[in-house]
Amino acid sequence: MPATPWMRHAMACAMLVAWTAAAWAEMPGDAGRGRVAVIGKGNCLACHHLPIPEEPDHGDIGPDLSTVGSRLGATELAARIVDPKTINPDTIMPSFFKTDLHRVAKDWQGQTILTRQDVADVVAYLLTLK
Ligand code: HEC
Repeated sequence: MPATPWMRHAMACAMLVAWTAAAWAEMPGDAGRGRVAVIGKGNCLACHHLPIPEEPDHGDIGPDLSTVGSRLGATELAARIVDPKTINPDTIMPSFFKTDLHRVAKDWQGQTILTRQDVADVVAYLLTLK
């Protein structure tokens, strides 16, 4: 089957994200700041269970991340956070570092949910979960 324009686009995006994720895996992150971002800006607890006992509500829409650092490495984690749709196009997990999001309020258009440093910090934090 010849590649449709959509498939070519998806492959190009996947390659781009793979590259950035690998580059970000090299970027030093701070696990302490990552833990704060996971609770606040990232709101990851809405869908995931994490070892953060002081927060009462943990979602179970996504997999339990309590030991995710023993399953996934920095590159996989960064790719997940940057744009999970490259891994699973049907996922409901938001793309935390993508600017061409749909249905975004005007003030937020062109902005990413997490900054580059936040992504590195969140990856550093998730890597401690073993
Ligand atoms: C709206 C719900 C939602 C939010 C918010 C969300 N996720 Fe997810 N996440 C999911 C779902 C659902 C999956 C399962 C895989 C899939 O859908 O492709 C997942 C998968 C993952 C995985 C892969 C886990 C594995 O075992 O393979 C990681 C890592 C992850 N999420 C991290 C995060 C982080 C970090 C945040 C916050 C910055 C976050 N997620 C926010 C829904 C969410």
